[in-house]
Amino acid sequence: MNSVAAIIEASQVSAPVAPQSAAPALIRASGVSKIYRMGDQTVRALDDVSLEIAKGDFVAIMGASGSGKSTMMNLIGALDRPTTGHLAIDGRDIATMSSDELADLRNGTIGFVFQQFNLLPRTPALNQVILPLLYAHPRPDDLEARAHHRLEQVGLGKRTDHLPSQLSGGQQQRVAIARALINNPKILLADEPTGALDTKTSEEIMKLFGELNAEGITVIIVTHEPDIADFARRKLVFRDGKIIDDTERAPLKAATAAKDRVL
Ligand SMILES: Nc1ncnc2c1ncn2[C@@H]1O[C@H](COP(=O)(O)OP(=O)(O)O)[C@@H](O)[C@H]1O
Ligand SMILES: [Mg+2]
Repeated sequence: MNSVAAIIEASQVSAPVAPQSAAPALIRASGVSKIYRMGDQTVRALDDVSLEIAKGDFVAIMGASGSGKSTMMNLIGALDRPTTGHLAIDGRDIATMSSDELADLRNGTIGFVFQQFNLLPRTPALNQVILPLLYAHPRPDDLEARAHHRLEQVGLGKRTDHLPSQLSGGQQQRVAIARALINNPKILLADEPTGALDTKTSEEIMKLFGELNAEGITVIIVTHEPDIADFARRKLVFRDGKIIDDTERAPLKAATAAKDRVL
């Protein structure tokens, strides 16, 4: 191997792939550790993680059960603070913020989607979507119109009166996604959003995330499934609380699918 090849190979091995985009980092973790203490046991759920996610990126987080994926998502979602290190979301370091400030950051910036759709059983779709802002101060005047718009965006414009029991699993997850969008979030976090769905429905949900990402929302999903991760632009793999792989993928499946529809 000549020296140039050696340098290239060395740089590929050692340097995590940075987002190509010139956009400023929306999420910047530096030296983040999260240690859970239970009695005299401690678990290092995240171990000195440094990471930047650019505005507008579409990231899949993978890794075995217990590798720290949900812990990372909880931090990015301002649901929790790191034990040590710094995590800035939209330029604000959550390590130094009060619980009220974290709640404001969440309400203004972040939408959450979960594996179990977490819908209320006897509540029509429109009200499910309105609910996160129902008690907001001030409550947006156009809340109902916004909820209608979001349900249309996820393909449920004609299902606004339906109860969860009258919707398929994929449709229920779409309601949950519309609900996550009601605060016009910059970041959409989805922890195993397709874990309870069949393959075809999972791919439809991933295409929807791709469309939302194309509109400018930064999307971060956790998944166990490589085929699902392939919809994202960037893939992070966690093991034992560390990032062991960080790759950018091309071509983007969702973008290809969107292009196919246009042509
Ligand atoms: N609230 C908690 N209290 C104690 N230990 C926790 C808590 N949450 C997660 N852990 C532990 O931290 C590690 C990482 O968990 P988690 O982030 O949920 O992993 P993943 O989402 O990749 O399955 C695991 O060992 C888990 O048992
Ligand atoms: Mg998890």
